Amino acid sequence: LSKENQDVLKAYEWLTKLYHHLLRHTKEGKEGYKYLKDRGFTDEVIDTFQLGFSPNSKDFIAQFLEKKGFHKQSMIKAGILTSNDQHNNSTDRFRGRVIFPIRNHLGKSIGFGGRTITNQEPKYLNSPETDLFQKGKLLYNFDLARSHIRKSSEAVLFEGYLDVISAHKAGIFNGIATLGTSITEAQAKLLRRYVDTVVICYDSDKAGIQASYKASKLLRSVGCNVKIASMPDGLDPDDFIRKFGDTRFKNEVILASDTYMTFMMKYIKKDYNLNLEGDRIQYVESVLDEIALIERPVEREHYLKELANEFELTVETLSQEIHSRREKIG
Ligand code: CTP
Ligand code: MN
Ligand code: MN
Ligand code: MN
Ligand code: MN
Repeated sequence: LSKENQDVLKAYEWLTKLYHHLLRHTKEGKEGYKYLKDRGFTDEVIDTFQLGFSPNSKDFIAQFLEKKGFHKQSMIKAGILTSNDQHNNSTDRFRGRVIFPIRNHLGKSIGFGGRTITNQEPKYLNSPETDLFQKGKLLYNFDLARSHIRKSSEAVLFEGYLDVISAHKAGIFNGIATLGTSITEAQAKLLRRYVDTVVICYDSDKAGIQASYKASKLLRSVGCNVKIASMPDGLDPDDFIRKFGDTRFKNEVILASDTYMTFMMKYIKKDYNLNLEGDRIQYVESVLDEIALIERPVEREHYLKELANEFELTVETLSQEIHSRREKIG
């Protein structure tokens, strides 16, 4: 690690402590504390995740870093401060925001996510990509979740920081999240080293459902078994937990998650008008493509029967279709 990167890590360590202290114990952090309390987060959870607040001041953080002897240019390069050319000042990138420290697998802060508490755009501001902080290779909360993931061979994949934190509060300790981007191959492969099954628990809005489909394809391509959880009315996991409580979240969302095939059939069905003959045929063809990829014969037969029943086709005809598809795949 270069001297400059060592300094950046040290700055993240100091700032994580400072932001957290400000939120918990000072009037400068009161707004942030109130925001999290209003959203139902306890002191215990705030401490576990080292949540913090960056005061809405132009130079509070810059001065703190300067006093600690950090190089202004390095802090700007790391995206901790933003330069303000006109006055040769630099400003805290995250000022006025609630801070979510992003920890690496060793539990060290290597970046921040900052959420506005006053409806500013963007809603979340994250540390920029650097050689120390690469979003596509990281999983939020992996350090705390790792032992639970290993024990159960299962991880729950969320969209957001707050979903992971709410789920933790609800007793789900194997939750992780990608940082605002769709899951990458590197992240999928990292997960695969620890799990057999990933429960995808993205937001149940249009974007989240679409992302679930994409993520399930990618996770399956690296050998994960996937299940897909869903919530009513476009809710996200944090919304659901606040509205319906921990127990219902576990039973009605996590334990009730769909298998990939069930989810996939529901998902692609939306693209077809099954009252039309042409659409019906195309839909059946698409589902057959997916069934042909299933390795276990018992499982293939299960879905073939389901499909045959739904469209009043014979299992024999559908089996032939599967047979020829599998010969092509080889
Ligand atoms: N995200 C981001 N930048 C944005 C919006 C979202 O990085 N401008 C990331 C954040 O990691 C966020 C996740 O994408 O946690 C999911 O986004 P969203 O569902 O919009 O936010 P929530 O996590 O639900 O946050 P909140 O409940 O505070 O709205
Ligand atoms: Mn504390
Ligand atoms: Mn979302
Ligand atoms: Mn959300
Ligand atoms: Mn949310």
